[in-house]
Amino acid sequence: MSGSLSNFHVPRHTLLRAKLTRLRRKETDSATFRRLLAEIGAILASEALRDLPETTGTIETPVSRMEAPMLAGPEPCLVAILRAGLGLLDGARMVLPDAPVGHLGMVRDEDTLIASEYVVRLPKDLAQRGALVLDPMLATGGSAIQAIHRVKQAGALYVRFACVVAAPEGVAAMQAAHPDVPVLAAALDERLNERGYIVPGLGDAGDRCFGTE
Ligand code: PRP
Ligand code: URA
Repeated sequence: MSGSLSNFHVPRHTLLRAKLTRLRRKETDSATFRRLLAEIGAILASEALRDLPETTGTIETPVSRMEAPMLAGPEPCLVAILRAGLGLLDGARMVLPDAPVGHLGMVRDEDTLIASEYVVRLPKDLAQRGALVLDPMLATGGSAIQAIHRVKQAGALYVRFACVVAAPEGVAAMQAAHPDVPVLAAALDERLNERGYIVPGLGDAGDRCFGTE
């Protein structure tokens, strides 16, 4: 993956950027936020997985036989970090409808900003495939770093991470903890504020997605 930071990539994608602008606006209601997050999830999943190993096989079209491209291995598992990762998952599943899905419940303490895990449900065959981990926000990086440790512990052959908005602090922490994991973001924002929120960001992704503000 290319980009200004190693293993971190922000695709040049006009549609993705326009959808993110709508997502960020404070007047965007929860239903629209959820829909946009799903659309962004579809774009991010296809960008994050665009260079998966490929092979060819013989198929028949209604007209003739041909040697056609196909994935060389099984589809990667999609892993949503709860809650807000569920919003991206809806779109990612449009692109990879047969992929197994894992759920990792992570919640950040609002005072210490330390993430803790409350649910782990990963497919049993994770050691036979890769994983794309999804969470809209990479703030301090604590939630994503712990989640990726879990996915690696389960034996995933490779791990990639896709988010919507990343803070420089979170990208640096991810690169220190998991230098082997490519990170894809729709945008790299300025910084974290004193409450650990990304600036300008989009607010609390979980609350906006599920209407719990
Ligand atoms: C949010 C977000 C990430 C995490 C990012 O979740 O969806 O998982 O914060 O912050 P970090 O990079 O500093 O760990 P939150 O803990 O608010 O839980 P929620 O999705 O259930 O609202
Ligand atoms: N989690 C969020 O939902 N938003 C932020 O800005 C930071 C962490």
